[in-house]
Amino acid sequence: MAVHLLDTQYDADSYQKYRFPPSENLQSVIFSYLEEKKVDPVRLAVDVGCGSGQSTHVLAAHFEKVVGTDISEAQIEAAKQAASFPNVTYHVCPAEELPFADGSVDLITAFTAAHWFDMPRFMKEVDRVLKPHRCVALSTYTADFSMHYKDCSERLTEIFTETHDQLLKYADEKVNLVIAEYKEVFESMPFPDTKRVTQIFDKIPMSVSGVIGLFQSFSMYQAFLRSDPEAAKSLLQKTEQRFLETMGVCSNETQVEIGIRSACVLGCKGP
Ligand SMILES: C[S@@+](CC[C@H](N)C(=O)[O-])C[C@H]1O[C@@H](n2cnc3c(N)ncnc32)[C@H](O)[C@@H]1O
Repeated sequence: MAVHLLDTQYDADSYQKYRFPPSENLQSVIFSYLEEKKVDPVRLAVDVGCGSGQSTHVLAAHFEKVVGTDISEAQIEAAKQAASFPNVTYHVCPAEELPFADGSVDLITAFTAAHWFDMPRFMKEVDRVLKPHRCVALSTYTADFSMHYKDCSERLTEIFTETHDQLLKYADEKVNLVIAEYKEVFESMPFPDTKRVTQIFDKIPMSVSGVIGLFQSFSMYQAFLRSDPEAAKSLLQKTEQRFLETMGVCSNETQVEIGIRSACVLGCKGP
């Protein structure tokens, strides 16, 4: 069964504000794979589970037409409201029922979304809509985060990890696919030509308030908030205080870097 997320499980506003687009090195893994597989001409890319569109935008420069799809009307509404590109459109639909003709798509992506899908039904759709010799790239960031600021990176990373671990108690079981770095997603790929890359490192600059916003954008934080609003808000307030005290600064607009490690599963359809 697909996990049909209610719009309340993600806060589209937090998404729009605090989620960052696919990192540079992750993009480079995907586009190098497309080059290797000679995906040209590059007509249509479909970004499934596109959320508020940050991931969809990075495809715009590489494809004639890009369609972002998501099951959440609120996410698609937020995507439509955001500044975008003329060749990008959005559509509300489940990943397991893509509104594209057989053999019509050059690339399917899902950034930090595939773990929510009904995997066998989604993979069947991927196989149906892709043209022969065309590709799919399913990526996520792993649970391996770090936080960097001057000489206190180690302590900040510990605080970040403690908060992340507390939130994990509220994670849906589908998040286990992320913890396992998409091993099962890889194993369910229907194509013989596949590849899984798990050591993709990037550093994302953001403010301390941005780090707190990133936590707020996680579905597991939204679950905690629904279960115990006071405790959830207090956890993030305390986390912010601890960050600022450790850094010896007062402003939550102070810039830090968040280190992320992404995993990406790639596949190329046969003839
Ligand atoms: C973690 S967000 C990722 C959004 C975006 N790709 C990004 O990188 O910021 C996961 C998204 O998957 C969507 N989603 C979950 N289950 C889905 C399904 N079965 N079909 C389509 N979208 C789904 C959610 O609504 C949510 O917007």
